[in-house]
Amino acid sequence: MSKTYQFDVLIIGSGAAGLMGAIQLSEDLSIALIAKDKLLEGSSYYAQGGISAVLDSADDFDSHIQDTIKTGFELGNKQSIRFMVEQAPNAIKDLEKAGVKFSQQGKKYDLTTEGGHSAKRVAHVSDKTGQSVQTNLLAQVRQKSNITLFEHHIAIDLLMKDKQCFGAYVYDKQNDQVSSFISSKTIIATGGASKAYLYTSNPDTSTGDGIAMAYRAGCEIINMEFAQFHPTCLFHSHAKSFLISETLRGEGAKLTLPNGEPFMHKYDEREEMAPRDIVARAIDHEMKTHGFDCVYLDLSFKDSRWIAERFPTITERCLALGIDICNERIPVVPAAHYTCGGVGADINAQSSVENLYAIGEVAHSGVHGANRMASNSLLECLVFAKACAKHINSENIIDDLPSFNDWDASRVQHSQEKVVVSHLWQEVRRIMWNFVGIVRSNRRLETAHRRLTQIQKEVNDYYRLYILTEDLIELRNLVQTAQIIVESSLSRKESRGLHFTLDYPEQLESADNSVIIKTP
Ligand code: FAD
Ligand code: SIN
Repeated sequence: MSKTYQFDVLIIGSGAAGLMGAIQLSEDLSIALIAKDKLLEGSSYYAQGGISAVLDSADDFDSHIQDTIKTGFELGNKQSIRFMVEQAPNAIKDLEKAGVKFSQQGKKYDLTTEGGHSAKRVAHVSDKTGQSVQTNLLAQVRQKSNITLFEHHIAIDLLMKDKQCFGAYVYDKQNDQVSSFISSKTIIATGGASKAYLYTSNPDTSTGDGIAMAYRAGCEIINMEFAQFHPTCLFHSHAKSFLISETLRGEGAKLTLPNGEPFMHKYDEREEMAPRDIVARAIDHEMKTHGFDCVYLDLSFKDSRWIAERFPTITERCLALGIDICNERIPVVPAAHYTCGGVGADINAQSSVENLYAIGEVAHSGVHGANRMASNSLLECLVFAKACAKHINSENIIDDLPSFNDWDASRVQHSQEKVVVSHLWQEVRRIMWNFVGIVRSNRRLETAHRRLTQIQKEVNDYYRLYILTEDLIELRNLVQTAQIIVESSLSRKESRGLHFTLDYPEQLESADNSVIIKTP
């Protein structure tokens, strides 16, 4: 049986962006907050490094702004960057109000640094920043009686009428039914799309759902070629998606080849503190040139007690896998980590479709340009979620909402071949890893485009014929998002930031955003 719900605001996603958005919306509004897994599951929970903000008198806004612009290879939107940087100290205060206790050194924040930052400005809760942010924000959300939480509910598609958005069709995984969530305003906060790649630091939730849904609804999707690879994910056969935080390098850890030789000095004068695109490409180059399975990250020269206190999560996880980071090097490889592009959104988080907003990693707010600076992402989530809520709070809420047909499942049947979905899923991720990775070329991209087009056709046929499952919903979105990454990559005739192609190795003097929009 299908249900129909009606709310003033529907928020899709319970990461830092979705939760902060819900908290900042007026208590006069009825809000549905849905998440496709448990409420705490998502990239936000696993964030280790921290949140960047100017919190020290030796630092200033202009320096944070300039570092962000430079790391983004001059493609970022300067107005949005200034807005985010100037709001950062308030975002830290908002979190403290929610109960987050940042690590301190004496009476001051224990600020650290990461690639691209010219000052110490990364506030953190040891290496459990995301866990602390998420548990405290969720506790605050739970206190609000105007917010109804729906976990294990996955949005399928946006409800559209006259080019305006009025909510979404949502699949309730536990009760196996599709409901209509009709709303005056809809906020997409579904996180990124790094699961499009075979190897990733991201949890299973990052399947690009919001980007694919917004694309199908007619939104502008911007700069999707800029897929960020984190240089250091743990290389171990039993470690699925485990990140070794960049803040280890911020605290002095060195990258070495298997024989112990350092190599970053050959690539950038900032060595280990160069931005991520440079470090990831350097590692990729060393691994491919010498045929190594991984390189190594070494922090073992530091005091063991300090390491265990500063990086408890990483110390414990590595130890459980037989690696004692206090005494030995950590084997690491690059993996897909962050989606810099996304649903085009302005400074109030409004997308190009009426009543539809996008916040957090799913959005292209313009602050990252061609490469995101470390620890600017949680910050973006918090700042633009608040701006979005402020905008909605000032808007008229439509009471007389249109009606929509119930989800029609009368013409589909149960599939006897679920293996097709898992096979295609793996194929998409392999294609992306092999042909749309750290180093690209026209030929590789065209191969990917051809193969993805074929897979997309198969997935769409399957989607029309068979009863929905979570895997099928995600696969449909994953292949759509992968195709958008390829199309954006093909449209950029230069190398800039995270997009490096052998056919156009130079960076053009000036460049525009790449915009993909569905043809009607
Ligand atoms: P997420 O936190 O990913 O949440 C997405 C939400 O959307 C989830 O609730 C999910 O269930 C839901 N969802 C998705 N699709 C659907 C759907 N179809 N229907 C319903 N719900 C859906 N950034 C920093 O700034 N500092 C760091 O230290 C840092 N460390 C990181 C470490 C790791 C391991 C990873 C993976 C990322 C890290 N990042 C860091 C990046 C940062 O954590 C993310 O960019 C940010 O948390 C994204 O938040 P979000 O709210 O946009 O999405
Ligand atoms: C990390 O801790 O290395 C991740 C930081 C980030 O992605 O911003």
